[in-house]
Amino acid sequence: MFEVLPQLPADPILGLSAAFKADPNPLKIDLGVGVYKDENGQTPIVTAIAKAQKILLETETSKTYIPAQGVQGYIDGLTELLLGKANPAVLENRVAAVQAPGGCGALRILSELIKRCNAETTVWVSDPTWANHIPLIGNAGLKIETYPYFDKDQASIRFDAMVESLENVKSGDVVLLHGCCHNPTGADLTKEQWQVVLKLAQKTGFIPFIDVAYLGFGDSLEDDAYGTRLLVNNLPEVIIAASCSKNFGLYRERVGLALMVTQNSTTRNAIQTQIQSIARAIYSMPPSYGGALVDIVLNNAELRAEWISEVDMMRNRMQDLRALLVSKLKEYGAKRDFDFVNRQKGMFSYLCITPEQVRAMRDKHSVYFVESSRVNIAGISLKNVDSLAKSLVSVL
Ligand code: LMR
Repeated sequence: MFEVLPQLPADPILGLSAAFKADPNPLKIDLGVGVYKDENGQTPIVTAIAKAQKILLETETSKTYIPAQGVQGYIDGLTELLLGKANPAVLENRVAAVQAPGGCGALRILSELIKRCNAETTVWVSDPTWANHIPLIGNAGLKIETYPYFDKDQASIRFDAMVESLENVKSGDVVLLHGCCHNPTGADLTKEQWQVVLKLAQKTGFIPFIDVAYLGFGDSLEDDAYGTRLLVNNLPEVIIAASCSKNFGLYRERVGLALMVTQNSTTRNAIQTQIQSIARAIYSMPPSYGGALVDIVLNNAELRAEWISEVDMMRNRMQDLRALLVSKLKEYGAKRDFDFVNRQKGMFSYLCITPEQVRAMRDKHSVYFVESSRVNIAGISLKNVDSLAKSLVSVL
């Protein structure tokens, strides 16, 4: 039976790692998959997480199943990070949540939930959006449409066009928004623009579905939650998928959260059973380990403070690398103004160059990044920035 299925092309993001590994050029540069790297190109274990691992090793006494919703201290801790202390939705028991295997697991559970509510729902995603949003949502059987988001020629958000498009979204349709550090463009909505999105949701009745995978990598843990909190505090229903891959450096442990803010506690209780039954039918229950580590970090004052300063350090380093790249491009004679890279936020920058130029970077200079022109800023280092800037100038 298996012969009927063809071989598929490599994943547009994950496939880059394999291509990079296979390249024998010692000066190759990897700006592909979104993982934080230090100056030596390593992705170290976040210190607070390394300490939490020791604590867990000493204190864990059983490997029996955890509750179906996941580690409760993790769910509560991450919910508070996202929604703020004493959020009314939490106090009024209007928040349903399950720990999920990564942000992807959360996106998928929530897409399945939307389908259970109404299989005809259309999910509107930004153009462009993270490549994996499309299969995660589409394979759940939902229809996908796009709204304009980013203008590659102007290197800025097409906010007027976005508003015009969202004005025509039907009540009950779902609009996927990036909570912060938009992937792939790094172009984030301003606070004023979030206010406009809120008004649009109130007017049209669409339901926001917020993907928060880079909290703390934009401006700060608090500032990056602005849009999420604004919508949660002013709308009856909000869907949130969160990930701890990046800010806790827990990539391979797959730690995410699927969260629903509902209108009242009766609906919340029903939705809680629904999301648990969706998870049960796919993978039964989440792995405990990563959630248990985040629980320890968030609920230990010392480790929490240490973690916050590590997030600050990662963010500041990425901002410095942006500035460095922009100045090196100027130094090596780029005719185009790349200052927009400094205004983008988080781990990614959209260089706004053509797919041919991206391919030339790979084929001629062994620099690997996504064909859309998305680069992982954390892959830049003091060692490679000169050669990176020279290569870019040469393909422009
Ligand atoms: C990325 O966007 O590079 C990361 O989120 C990794 C992935 O799964 O695509």
